[in-house]
Amino acid sequence: MYGSGRAEEFVGQVIKHVGRSSVFITTKILPDRLVDKELVLKATRESLRRLGVSSADLVLIHWPNEELSITEQVRNFEVIYEYGLTRYIGVSNFDTAQLREAIEAVKKAEIVVNQVHYSVLTRHYVEKELLPYCVENNITIQAYTPLERGNVVVNPTIVKIASRYGKTPVQVALNYLISHKNVVAIPKSESINHVQEILGATGWRLKLEDLEYIKRHA
Ligand SMILES: NC(=O)c1ccc[n+]([C@@H]2O[C@H](COP(=O)([O-])OP(=O)(O)OC[C@H]3O[C@@H](n4cnc5c(N)ncnc54)[C@H](OP(=O)(O)O)[C@@H]3O)[C@@H](O)[C@H]2O)c1
Repeated sequence: MYGSGRAEEFVGQVIKHVGRSSVFITTKILPDRLVDKELVLKATRESLRRLGVSSADLVLIHWPNEELSITEQVRNFEVIYEYGLTRYIGVSNFDTAQLREAIEAVKKAEIVVNQVHYSVLTRHYVEKELLPYCVENNITIQAYTPLERGNVVVNPTIVKIASRYGKTPVQVALNYLISHKNVVAIPKSESINHVQEILGATGWRLKLEDLEYIKRHA
């Protein structure tokens, strides 16, 4: 889905350059591959070939296949753990009920991640329902689109809090997310300057009262 596999090939070149042990590799499997174990194995092996590695750290179901039961698709999917093609498995875009069924369905592997859309501007469902369930069940939420594709920089509440801390709005928006238990964020950038700014989101913490302020106003 990402450049017809070219994104994985590019990541593979980077891995060669920086060394396998210095990166945590996550990739995803499209839902239509989940109809049988052979297809799942084939798709994963092709991903690994493009990445130039013998196993991934984490492979996710990109989103649930609506044509199959969650139990059936997760049992087909976990074959990649049994074959040693990944250290961990996870899901993406699963709601709480789907996640619960997935956790109950696995036999050999454990679901460790649910990658979902979560940002200061898109947070109600996650915070009200999904995140409490994940904390209780030791699942990590990976927040995708955590910068709302750059739109957090113009949110007046985020801009206001940022100026109080001497941080940028991007840093506040990401710090807000990772201040929640069991949450990591996966911002994307093609600019070195933006990556450096993103790095400044860690190593400090928003005060509880400011997290609450953001929840009330952003
Ligand atoms: N599982 C799923 O279904 C799913 C769906 C969507 C996305 N994702 C994943 O989530 C990750 C990120 O999501 P996303 O790309 O949708 O959204 P995002 O990270 O919220 O936004 C990326 C955009 O923000 C800009 N940006 C980054 N740093 C910035 C900064 N410091 N200041 C201003 N703008 C900045 C980037 O521009 P520059 O490149 O110019 O910095 C880029 O246009 C991706 O890795 C993607 O694969 C997963």
